[in-house]
Amino acid sequence: MINDLEKLGWAVNESLRIEPPVLIPIGNTPFDEIKLNDGFTLKKGSNFTFNFYRLHHNPDEWRQPDEFKPDRFNPKSMWYLTPVGNKRNSFSFMPFSAGRRSCAGKTFAETLPKLVLAYLLHEFDFEMANPDHKIEKPMITVQTVKPTKIPVLIRKRER
Ligand code: HEM
Repeated sequence: MINDLEKLGWAVNESLRIEPPVLIPIGNTPFDEIKLNDGFTLKKGSNFTFNFYRLHHNPDEWRQPDEFKPDRFNPKSMWYLTPVGNKRNSFSFMPFSAGRRSCAGKTFAETLPKLVLAYLLHEFDFEMANPDHKIEKPMITVQTVKPTKIPVLIRKRER
């Protein structure tokens, strides 16, 4: 039933896109040489990592990548497409990584915010205390060292 709250799912995904909690994972070491399409070769035993922040803000894949637009996950919206109107590469969004070593808690981590938000939005009205608040560009980190402070006004909903 919680998955029927489609727009809430888009907003959760967009939050994970614009500020991925894991910016750069620790790294991987290939057992065999891997030749990439763009001519690079990952040597056996070498160490490489991804930059999820750059991936999620790639201007070739995302229109106005620094804007918060949940409609990027709405297949009926133009925000769903790349700036030139193509279908996005399915690996352009991967806050939980991909493949065999992707996040073991993905389903839990995707479902919990929807449950919590559905309850909070039902009970309270939220408003940015400072509508001009700008999100800082992240530093290199694999965890949230300091929570981002965004002042919010919260009012109990009238019934
Ligand atoms: C928004 C929340 C979360 C995000 C964005 C996230 C993201 C990730 C990413 C990117 C990886 C791969 C790391 C790498 O390749 O080095 C990972 C691995 C993992 N995550 Fe999460 N995670 C989240 C929540 C959770 C939760 C709630 C759990 C457990 C309940 C969990 C358990 C794990 C485990 C066990 C792995 C290691 C999997 C493996 O190496 O086989 N994660 N996560």
